[in-house]
Parts: sequence; structure tokens; C-alpha cells
Amino acid sequence: MIAQLEAEILAAIEAANDPAALEAVRVAALGKSGSISELLKSLGKMSPEERREQGPQINGLRDRVAGLIAEKKAALEAAELDAKLASERVDLTLPPPPRRRGSVHPTMQVMDEMIAVFAEMGFSVAEGPDIETDFNNFTALNFPEKHPAREMHDTFFLQEDAKGERKVLRTHTSPVQVRVMRATNEQLPAWIANGQEPPIRVIVPGRTFRKDSDQTHTPMFHQIEGLVIDKGIHMGHLKWTLETFIAKFFETDAVETRFRPHHFPFTEPSAEMDVRCDRSGGEVKIGQGSDWLEILGCGMVHPNVLRNCGLDPDVWQGFAFGAGVDRLGVLKYGMPDLRDMFASDVRWLEHYGFSAFAAPNPATGLS
Ligand code: DAH
Repeated sequence: MIAQLEAEILAAIEAANDPAALEAVRVAALGKSGSISELLKSLGKMSPEERREQGPQINGLRDRVAGLIAEKKAALEAAELDAKLASERVDLTLPPPPRRRGSVHPTMQVMDEMIAVFAEMGFSVAEGPDIETDFNNFTALNFPEKHPAREMHDTFFLQEDAKGERKVLRTHTSPVQVRVMRATNEQLPAWIANGQEPPIRVIVPGRTFRKDSDQTHTPMFHQIEGLVIDKGIHMGHLKWTLETFIAKFFETDAVETRFRPHHFPFTEPSAEMDVRCDRSGGEVKIGQGSDWLEILGCGMVHPNVLRNCGLDPDVWQGFAFGAGVDRLGVLKYGMPDLRDMFASDVRWLEHYGFSAFAAPNPATGLS
């Protein structure tokens, strides 16, 4: 009877091919009311002779079965682990799944290019906040009280603060001229913030805001401002600096510029600089053709601005300029609509964006 039971249990162990089935066999044999446990319980009711004879047999059966189950359990677990390792193996030779890579926005690329060109000419970079005081954005720059730029429909005004001051989203980067000359800008590096004595040679790349939106205007856009203050500065310095910049930026020596008289409150005389270009083929080619393209505003810093910034106009002179970064980017890289620059369309960004790891252009050193 014991031999038959043992044969049955061994067959069941043999047949169990996963840990759950094996556990069921164990419970059926060695569990509380398992077949072997019942036999063990029956020992108590036997006569001493019977027990002497049956005891070792039943205990032997229990030990053998328990040993076999433990062995089988280890084998099943090892097989399970092997299967898992085989199915979950990582094949390092497979190519990685395609991943979308970010790119440098054309505006940032163009700003970097401009900064590189001006840095080579000895300019440093200054920055100011997007939210500006009326004084820095207008008053110190010699804007009359009733100037149209101060109108609500041209400029984003903030709510009056507790002190009754109405700040603006800066309409141009020119207020940073004031900050640099007056040295009141906490965001500037210490060497500027602690008071910059002329000579001053800075450029100011940054975001600007106006109530405007059409194919060539966006309510937020980028400008780069330039300011040079020294003794004996004149229009010749201004002209050379801007012509050198344009030639390097557009990577051509054939640039021809034209300075047209203009008016800005903060410069006197003021001019707009045009560049000779060819628009005949549907795209703009710089340095050839018979058209002129307006590129930037510039002029000699107005004596009132110097005075407002604590500089004596009889001692110090300077020139300044301001250009639209996005517009120059559009010109250089040929995007059809300025508004696309800020539409955050990933397809556009993939097409017009620049690699962050591009090799530098050997001619300009720019990447
Ligand atoms: N701030 C002017 C604008 O936004 C651009 C400008 C013109 C800046 C002449 C200057 C300048 O520094 O001298 O239209």
C-alpha cells in the first residue's frame, strides 16, 4: 500500500511542470490532511509492534517525498529563471529606436552669430529685464510726454503698482543703454552693475514687445542693441562698425550700405541703415542688385540721453543702434513668415532649426 502511494506521488511530482502544480502535489501528500500526513496520524492508533514496523516506512516515505518535492521545486524555479533570461535578453546590437532630437531655434542661432561677430570687435553682452520702468523705456531716452509709442495701442502697459507706477513690457532693447550708463541693473555682471565708466562697448540681445501682429510683425520679437560711449566718437565709427558687422553676419564682402536720415528721440542725428539687395528671384540676396532693404536704426546718442544717464555730453560722445534679430534671421535663412518663428510647430523647428553640435564654419568661426 505504501509502495503504491509512493508510486502515485512520484508520478504526480514528475507530472507537475510548474510551481503551482507542484505545490498542489505537496499539499495533497504532506499538507494537514494530505495522504502521508493521514498515514502518520494513523501510527498513533497502532499497536506497538505495528508501529515499530510501519513507523520507519511511513517516515521514510515522508522524507523521500519531501526531498523529491524540494528537488523538483528547485529545478522548476531554475527553469523558470532560464526562460525569463532567454525571453528578456537585451540585444545590444539592435539599433536604438528613433528619438526626436531638439534643435537650436533660428532666433537663438542668429543671436549667437551676432554676439560672436560683435565679441570679436570687443563688445560685451549686457541684459535687462522684460518688464521695464517707464523712465528707462521712454523718459530717459528722451521720448516726449505725448510720443505715440507711449499710447496704449502700441505698448503693453502693466497695471499700476502700489506706488502708482505703471511699468511696461519693454518696447525695445534701448532701455538697457540707460541701465548700462546709469549702472542700476542688478541683473548685469558686477563689473557693470557696480558702475561702468566709459568707454562703454556693449550689445544687448533680448526680447521686446509691441501690440502688433501681421506677416512681418509679432507681439514678441527680438532685438539687438548696440552702444558705444567714448571720447571723440563720431558717425565714422558707427558706419565702420555696422558695415563690418553686416559683412561678417551675411558672410560676404560685397555689402553696400546706405544711411538714410531718420528720427529717433534718443539719437541725433538719427539714421536708418539700408543694405543693397536683389529681390528679383523671389528671395533676397544681400550685396547685389538694385533694391535697398532697411536693416536697422542707429544714430549718435542724444546729449539729453547722456545727461539723463549722468554723463557730460561735452566730454563723452557715443553711437547706438538697434536691429530686429528675427527679421535679420529671416533674411539670412529665408523663412517666409515671421509669425512661424514663434508658432512652436515642431515640423517648422525641425526644418529651420540648427544642430547644437554643428561644426564651426571655417570662414567665420561660427557654428
Ligand atoms: N529702439 C529702436 C526701435 O526699437 C531702434 C533703435 C534705433 C535703437 C536707433 C537705437 C538707435 O539704439 O540708435 O525701433
